[in-house]
Amino acid sequence: MDHRVLRRLAASAVAALFALTGCTGGGVVEGRPGASGVRDPFFPKAGNGGYQVEHYDLDLDYDPVGGRLHATAVITARAEQALSSFNLDLSGLQVERVTVQGAGARFNRTGNELTVRPAEDLRRGEVFRTEIDYGGKPKHVTDPDGSREGWIPLAGGQGAVGVGEPVGSMAWFPGNHHPSDKATYDIEVTVPKGYEAVSNGELRSRTDEPGDGGAADAAGGGGRTVFAWRSAEPMASYLATVAVGKFKVTTGKTPSGIPVHTAVAPGEAAASAPVLGRLPEMVEWGSGRFGPYPFSSTGLIVLPEGTLGYALETQTRPVISGAPTGEEGEALVLHELAHQWFGDSVSPKSWKDMWLNEGFATYAEWLWSEDHGGPSAQQHFDAYLAGDTDVDPAAGSDWYAFPPAAPPGPKDISGSPVYGRGAMVLQRIRQEVGDEKFFALVRGWAADHRHGNASTADFTAYAQEKTGHDLKKVWDVWLYGKERPKAP
Ligand code: TRP
Ligand code: ZN
Repeated sequence: MDHRVLRRLAASAVAALFALTGCTGGGVVEGRPGASGVRDPFFPKAGNGGYQVEHYDLDLDYDPVGGRLHATAVITARAEQALSSFNLDLSGLQVERVTVQGAGARFNRTGNELTVRPAEDLRRGEVFRTEIDYGGKPKHVTDPDGSREGWIPLAGGQGAVGVGEPVGSMAWFPGNHHPSDKATYDIEVTVPKGYEAVSNGELRSRTDEPGDGGAADAAGGGGRTVFAWRSAEPMASYLATVAVGKFKVTTGKTPSGIPVHTAVAPGEAAASAPVLGRLPEMVEWGSGRFGPYPFSSTGLIVLPEGTLGYALETQTRPVISGAPTGEEGEALVLHELAHQWFGDSVSPKSWKDMWLNEGFATYAEWLWSEDHGGPSAQQHFDAYLAGDTDVDPAAGSDWYAFPPAAPPGPKDISGSPVYGRGAMVLQRIRQEVGDEKFFALVRGWAADHRHGNASTADFTAYAQEKTGHDLKKVWDVWLYGKERPKAP
């Protein structure tokens, strides 16, 4: 019999004694294991039950040449039930040591689940601190749609990037990796001298240090630089990022004073300049259209061309691969910035609700075009209906393949109906209720769910209530209908 079982037997004997004597109180807690997932319809094992994280304190030491990471994660969480054990999501890497409330904890690993058994059961409502030392060569995760996320090295030992939509963040830190559990973050990254480390939020300090033999020393001639980043606003873990590279960093402010921090791979810097120059204006425009910008800073990370096959709306600082150029590059950056309101601040309750991210961000591109002398949102809508790729190159996609609010499976959450037809749903609402009510709806949605989570059902109920219109037909045909919708 292991110690754990003995201890539990002893605990129940004490509980029985209390029951016999009518004695109450005392420190005896009888916990149950927390669930190994939050039963997301598409990623049932993503996230974990029994607790909510309040804060992540990540301390990452990375050697870009050897590709090795050594890290400590301190996770402050609140127990939502009495816990005898709880899970974190982690893929690959070796776990060296785990403590809970300062005491050594037992742990084991099965698949992407790290199960932690604290020395003492945790009380319901208790705020507890878990410290995990881990490291190794992080691996990427392949998504159901075939794309790569997780920890991705840049070509030629130039650095690496950590990205996590939908479930890749578990490849670089243990956590409650589901968007329904948002938390604040401190991310400290130690890299060899000469490299930049960029993450979410604001840079609190940047310190040069002599080497101390850590993983980052190998490539830096012993010298290291420590970057301390803070995200004071809640963040879903899929939006966390770290980019390590020899970036060209630029800082500034938007016209209304929001700090801007951009990091661009040297080879992409010249070509990126024109679109990057418009980033402050895009953020201001978004504030006008969608309401106050939801975070304390903004920016962009431009990786070498080909690093990722997609862009990602990582919080405050989206990641793109290759310089954004021309109208297409402008629309891409605008799309990722629009996600700061829709996706990052208002996050989906489940991965099935993705159209709330992508439909809104695509609609934002249409609106930006409308407000800057390009085709209007209505013209984009018409182009999609007609498959007219002159107006919008994406209009030729199979936006009618499935209803945006009911993607058939996990590989479809990045499918074109989620983007294009999601945006068409918004234009359909605008047609029904008129501009004034429509923009009040969009701003109200961003304001009322700011820094929270929402589902499709929350949105449809909210839209009806806010506009006072019966929109059932729009939902039935455009949001949930299996048929290809006809022109309204
Ligand atoms: N969200 C990204 C964008 O705005 C695209 C994306 C990357 C994505 N990885 C994903 C979408 C995984 C769904 C799932 O363009
Ligand atoms: Zn998007």
